[in-house]
Amino acid sequence: MTEAVPLSGGMGKLYGVSLGPGDPGLITRAAWAALQRRDAVWVYPARSGKTPSYALDIATRAGVMPPDLHTQLLFPMTHDGEKLAVAWMKAAQTVLPWLRAGRDVLFLVEGDASTYATFGHLARTLRALDADSDVHVIAGVNSFTAACADVGVPFSEQDDTVAIVPAAYGVGSVERLLPDFDTLVLMKIKPLLDDLIDWLQRRDLLSGTHFVERVGAVDERRLSGADILQLRGTKVSYLSLLIIKNPHRIRGERIKGCLKKSSAVVETEAA
Ligand SMILES: C[S@@+](CC[C@H](N)C(=O)[O-])C[C@H]1O[C@@H](n2cnc3c(N)ncnc32)[C@H](O)[C@@H]1O
Repeated sequence: MTEAVPLSGGMGKLYGVSLGPGDPGLITRAAWAALQRRDAVWVYPARSGKTPSYALDIATRAGVMPPDLHTQLLFPMTHDGEKLAVAWMKAAQTVLPWLRAGRDVLFLVEGDASTYATFGHLARTLRALDADSDVHVIAGVNSFTAACADVGVPFSEQDDTVAIVPAAYGVGSVERLLPDFDTLVLMKIKPLLDDLIDWLQRRDLLSGTHFVERVGAVDERRLSGADILQLRGTKVSYLSLLIIKNPHRIRGERIKGCLKKSSAVVETEAA
């Protein structure tokens, strides 16, 4: 349903409601409380009219049905800047009348709303249309920390360095990052998976690598080490990532640890 119902009072607020990567148990209490509201409008992203919204699926699997007013917003999977700008504008124009009518709008987000999410584009476009737009984010669990928990590897420890990168820049860019990072998280790996597998094998990195698909969904899949070779030539879900623990990293000298303060720092703090 898309009909705006005018309410008296000021402008409504837009919330980016992070729902975690798929397991309803990873919905935060704040997001859960937001979902219970029946007075707010729900909007949720989908790639096309034929593909159901994964964010909506998380909410419904948690047992919460949409309120009377709800609609999907289409964000096509493309790097075409013009097409994307049109989609963001359409989405903002859908949401704005509700906000102007005083309704709060909840944009359901898979994972965390600040992590590679469409929500940021919507918020920016909305502010450009109406500078009075009031936008809030409810933080959530992202896909890669949930994936680390499920495969049983720490995301980072002590002085570990971590890089989180979309694989779209290609194997060459991942190769350049390798010397500086203990953990690499590669997102959006689907189109490059075969190249990445070849590179992992060539660089002797497979033993510390984990592939995680649809973490938190009922059909979550995990493969580690040499088992990842089975994925060559197969299709994986867009919701897939790689966690690479780099055994070859040589750490330089650490200048200052958190445990021991240098006398210079102690003196400055005491002054
Ligand atoms: C547009 S980003 C969304 C990131 C999300 N907002 C988050 O907080 O993790 C999409 C990419 O995130 C990763 N991703 C998101 N959800 C996932 C899931 N449930 N399982 C595995 N990877 C996921 C995949 O690499 C996917 O290509």
